[in-house]
Amino acid sequence: MSSLDAGLDESAGPPSVSKRLLTTLVASADAIPVAPTWDPGSEHGYDGELAAVLIPAGTLQAKITELARAVAADHQLDTPPLLICVLKGAVMFVTDFARALPIPSELEFMAVSSYGSATSSSGVVRILKDLDRDITGRRVIIVEDIIDSGLTLSWLLKNLATRGPAAIDIVALLRKPEAVKVEVDVRYVGFDIPTDFVVGYGLDYNERYRDLPFVGLLGEHMYR
Ligand code: PRP
Repeated sequence: MSSLDAGLDESAGPPSVSKRLLTTLVASADAIPVAPTWDPGSEHGYDGELAAVLIPAGTLQAKITELARAVAADHQLDTPPLLICVLKGAVMFVTDFARALPIPSELEFMAVSSYGSATSSSGVVRILKDLDRDITGRRVIIVEDIIDSGLTLSWLLKNLATRGPAAIDIVALLRKPEAVKVEVDVRYVGFDIPTDFVVGYGLDYNERYRDLPFVGLLGEHMYR
């Protein structure tokens, strides 16, 4: 795993931690193949279904702590930021992220569905569950598990912007740069990953694998 972490030169300017390059680049070659003698999926009932572990649980948690510190450093204001979790995929991430944040935060949930195939979205989005409250004047942080084409996030940003928030930030755990169709300005991204079929830590295939504590690669025999 080659890190793009640049580290903040504290003497070089304003101490905005967001200026740091937080994103770690993960290549397909970094994946740790599952073997008959080592199959972490089997601990969760997915024996023989995964091809590899792409991002181990400990690496995810370390990154989440880093992201949370960066976000907190940029949000030292009176009103707690409102975390908007995009269901269902981001649910694992938002719960760990909120607990890692060294400042108070509030939680809201939104569920959207993009029309398209099981593996790619079309950009046409409908709201399955809307926010429970008005966000006028609030600083909101959209919490996403993954940016694939970017279509969902792009739509969501426009939708939330019409509701008069004071500011909108985005924190995404994963991004697939080679799949992005719409560029969205995302300040906090945990990992740039390959276009491989990833599951785990909220990401599903036919609703399975969300419960894995790591990000894995699904075995081709499971979806071909
Ligand atoms: C996934 C993911 C993002 C979106 C990213 O959600 O959680 O919201 O796709 O894809 P995009 O960048 O190509 O738009 P999905 O619609 O699969 O629903 P889920 O979170 O309930 O699994």
